[in-house]
Amino acid sequence: MLQQNESPYIAHVFVCTNDRGGERKSCADNDSQLVKEQLKKAVDGKGWKGKVRVSTSGCMGVCAQGANVMIYPQKLWFSEVSPDDVEAIASAIERIMEKI
Ligand code: FES
Repeated sequence: MLQQNESPYIAHVFVCTNDRGGERKSCADNDSQLVKEQLKKAVDGKGWKGKVRVSTSGCMGVCAQGANVMIYPQKLWFSEVSPDDVEAIASAIERIMEKI
C-alpha cells in the first residue's frame, strides 16, 4: 500500500552517471562515477552518514552540461562537474549542514 513519508535526509545528493557510450555527450564523459565515489567518501569522512545521502541518478535531461549533480531539498544544481570539483561540492554540503 502506498505510503508518503518525509525524506530522512537533510540533503540528498544525486549524481548523474548516465553513460551514452560516446554516442553523444553524457555525464559519464566527465567521470561522474568517480565524482559519486569521492562524494560518498567525503560524506563518510565528515560523519554525515544518515543525514546526507549520495545516490546515483539517471539522466536529468541536461546532458550537454554534464556531469550534473543536484542536491535536494536545497535545489542546488552543479553542472560541468568533474572529479576536481568534489571539494567545492563538499563545501556546499558543509554550508547546508552548518545551517541546521
Ligand atoms: S546524461 Fe546526465 S543529464 Fe543526461
